[in-house]
Amino acid sequence: MLRKPLLLAARSATCRTIVERTPMTRAMVHRFVAGSTLEEALPSVADLTRDRYVTLDFLGEDTADTAQATATVTAYQDLLAALGEAGLGDRAEVSVKLSAVGQFLDRDGEKIALENARQIAEAAKAIGTTVTLDMEDHTTVDSTLGILRELREDFPFVGAVLQAYLRRTVADCRDLSGAGSRVRLCKGAYDEPESVAYRDKAEVDKAYVRALRVLMEGDGYPMVASHDPRMVAIAGELAQVNGRSADDYEYQMLYGIRDAEQVRLAAEGKKMRVYVPYGTEWYGYYMRRLAERPANVLFLARSLVTR
Ligand code: FDA
Repeated sequence: MLRKPLLLAARSATCRTIVERTPMTRAMVHRFVAGSTLEEALPSVADLTRDRYVTLDFLGEDTADTAQATATVTAYQDLLAALGEAGLGDRAEVSVKLSAVGQFLDRDGEKIALENARQIAEAAKAIGTTVTLDMEDHTTVDSTLGILRELREDFPFVGAVLQAYLRRTVADCRDLSGAGSRVRLCKGAYDEPESVAYRDKAEVDKAYVRALRVLMEGDGYPMVASHDPRMVAIAGELAQVNGRSADDYEYQMLYGIRDAEQVRLAAEGKKMRVYVPYGTEWYGYYMRRLAERPANVLFLARSLVTR
C-alpha cells in the first residue's frame, strides 16, 4: 500500500526537502549509506572486503547539467584510484547510474553518458576491476543496453543490471547470456505500469526464477542480487544443476540489509558482494529502500512522532 506513494515521493522535490530536513532521517540513512564522502565510506569497504566483495555507488541520478555529470565522473575516477592504492582492485568494483553521468541531458545526453562511462571504465581497467551499469526505470532500458553494447566493444568487463519484474527481461537475459557477459539480476525497484512489468509479488518472484534459469544455463557470469532467501536457495540449486563452481557466479546484497546472511554465505565459501552507496545525493536511493519494506517506514514514522 505504501510502495506507490513512496516511489512517487522519491521523485518529488517538495518531499525531498521535507525528508532531508528531518533530523531523524539522517540517522536512518546511515543504515543504508556508508558515508557522505569517500573518506567516510572507505572504512566500511575495508571492513567488508575482509570476507566479502563490494561494488561502490557514488550516489546521484537524473543529473540535469553537464558540469554535474563531469563531477560525477571525477568522483568515480578518484574512487577507483583510491581502491587501487588500497590494493582492492580484486575485491571492489563500481556501479554507475547512466542518468548520473548525463544520459538525460537535453542535448546529446546518450552520447555524453557513453563518453563519461568510457572514462570510468578506463579508470576501472587501470586497476583491474569491473564496472556494472545500474538499471533505472523502464524508459531507460533500451538506451542503457545500447550504451552497454558500445562500451563492451572496448571494455568487455562492463556488465549491467536487469530487472526481473519487466516483461522483456527473459529475452534480455537470453541476449546477454553469452561468454564474458556479466548480468546482475534484481527484482526491480521502480513503480512500473502493468503494461511493461509484473506488479504482483508472486509473479515477480516467478519471473525472477525464469530469468535466473536463463542466466545460469548460459555462458555468462550471473550476479544474483536479492535478499530473498528463496531466490538465494534457488540460485544455489541452479548453479549446481548447471555445473557452476563458486567462482562462476555470485550473490549480491545491499549495504545494511541481511548482514548476517551475507556473512553466512561468505563463510560457506560463496562469493558474496555488497552494494555500498555513499555520497550526499542519497534521497532517491533511500526512498526506494523504504518502499521495499513497510517496516522501515514504520520505524521512521515512530521516530518522527517520538522526536
Ligand atoms: P524482496 O523485496 O522480496 O525482499 C526479500 C527480503 O529481503 C525481505 O523480506 C526483507 O527481509 C529483505 N529486504 C528487502 N529489501 C529490504 C529493505 N529495503 N530493507 C530491509 N530489508 C529488506 N533495483 C533496480 O531497479 N535497479 C538496480 O540497478 C538495482 N540494483 C541492485 C543491486 C543490488 C546488489 C541489489 C541487492 C538490489 C538492487 N536493486 C536494484 C533493488 C532490487 O530491485 C530490489 O528492489 C531489492 O533488492 C529488494 O528485492 P529482493 O530481491 O531483496 O526481494
